[in-house]
Amino acid sequence: MHSTVPSESKPALRKGSPATRSFLRALLFFLALVASAATAPAVVAQKVQLSIDASKPGAKIDRNIFGQFAEHLGHGIYGGVWVGPDSRIPNTRGIRKDVVAALRALRVPNVRWPGGCFADEYHWRNGIGPQRVTGLNPNWGGVIEPNTFGTHEFMDFLEQIGAEAYLSINLGTGTPREAAEWLEYITAAQPTTLAKERGANGHPAPFKVGYLGIGNESWDCGGNMTPDYYLSQLKIYSRFVRNYNPEQQEKHRMLKIAVGPGGSGPRWTEWTETIMKAYQNHQWSWDIDGLSMHSYTVVKWPPSFASVGFGETEYAEILKSTLEMERLIDEHSAIMDKYDPQKKVALVVDEWGAWYAPLPGTNPGFLVQQNSLRDAILAALNLNIFARHADRVRMANIAQMVNVLQAMILTDQEKMVLTPTYYVFKMYAPFQDAAFVPVTFDAGTYTRGDIRLPRLDAIAARDSVGKLWLAITNIDPNQPAEIEVSLAGVAAKSAAGETLTAPKVDSVNTFDAPNTVTPKPVCAKVEGGKLSMKLEAKSVTVVAVE
Ligand code: AHR
Repeated sequence: MHSTVPSESKPALRKGSPATRSFLRALLFFLALVASAATAPAVVAQKVQLSIDASKPGAKIDRNIFGQFAEHLGHGIYGGVWVGPDSRIPNTRGIRKDVVAALRALRVPNVRWPGGCFADEYHWRNGIGPQRVTGLNPNWGGVIEPNTFGTHEFMDFLEQIGAEAYLSINLGTGTPREAAEWLEYITAAQPTTLAKERGANGHPAPFKVGYLGIGNESWDCGGNMTPDYYLSQLKIYSRFVRNYNPEQQEKHRMLKIAVGPGGSGPRWTEWTETIMKAYQNHQWSWDIDGLSMHSYTVVKWPPSFASVGFGETEYAEILKSTLEMERLIDEHSAIMDKYDPQKKVALVVDEWGAWYAPLPGTNPGFLVQQNSLRDAILAALNLNIFARHADRVRMANIAQMVNVLQAMILTDQEKMVLTPTYYVFKMYAPFQDAAFVPVTFDAGTYTRGDIRLPRLDAIAARDSVGKLWLAITNIDPNQPAEIEVSLAGVAAKSAAGETLTAPKVDSVNTFDAPNTVTPKPVCAKVEGGKLSMKLEAKSVTVVAVE
């Protein structure tokens, strides 16, 4: 190799000369700097103090807040759940085996079906028996609706994944008689003509229906009704749509859920007021057990935020928007408390999640979006909010289960991938039906431009065998957090669990790289009644304290 400086002109470094001494001093200084950089943490993490008193358990975190929503929309059902018995994709009676196995692992408590907007145009007779009616799905892309997935297929699917049915009945284009007959067909044990028809279609024993949604967004796609008009419809459907299953008459009674608000402000508080005021004075002939609320994280309409390929500012904007859920629940809970102080009526957040711009190249009516680490964090924050309101929020359904909006699972023909949101639901499974335990902490602040968010969020709960579970989210995408948790009311010796993070806030799992955002084992130190651990930046962590 040639040097551009002639060798004779380079200064000679001789032992003892002033040039040598100053060179050595500079070298020593440089080496010291390198050594200190190697031992010091890149960012000095601040210790956050949390405290938990496990001897003071609160309300039960109803397992139903981990509910799913599956609408006849895009590939939510067709392709995502149902492939038909003749498909080369492995299936049980037409239902995908891989999807069933993944959902079983989540312990899905209930599935809301068949919609959404679709429900108010669904006629159940089109989807039973050997001759299915081919129709259209005008809400979602105007595509053919083959009705090959109907009542029996839905009930079979629920049995395969071990979940309860949450049926959404047609109050928009249907009649009380149509809905009443559907329920008789599904639940009657006596040999009525409808029960015998069910038997002839392959299921002599009555099915169970755990939850009945009376309409969907009746203030909008469900018929643009006024609160008073809807209330009169609600009373009729609540009165006449009965569950006849002998095993559901007392203890496992079907719960009826009325359409509730879709946002914040006077239009929505008037809706909640109207239904709850009527409930307070309701007579024997009608009743409700839940009031539905829909709230998507969307920032602006139509949805324009990208689900992948975004930066820190959009990360912060979406999380700021999702945290509005807390205020919304407070706003409507306050009205419910006024008319139902005993909290008999649950607030049922049966559509929630992130709604982004459709992925380029997809049918916009199919609501296809990717699912990133940001969505995992968003899911954890919402589940934490629901858990903190466990006395009123006793059911929630993320939209939607497969291939639509903030999905658990994405499929493409025979391929399947589990999303970051899926992993949060899996990590949170121990919180199902556990008793909420308050956690106190100073969250600190994460700032991005003029957006200020709590840096940390946490919930805790005790499960049925007394084990304490702690879930902590570090929203800050740049800084890890050292935490120290004082534990009272529990003899703690060790703690271990899992953490979910990824290289970037928009990291995703794809069919080709399915493990970019997957949980990794994590250990915590427990000493002298204190648990300490480091939380990665932009992470969700769940640990069990033993
Ligand atoms: O989840 C997609 C749609 O969003 C549902 O069909 C409707 O209820 C809501 O507006």
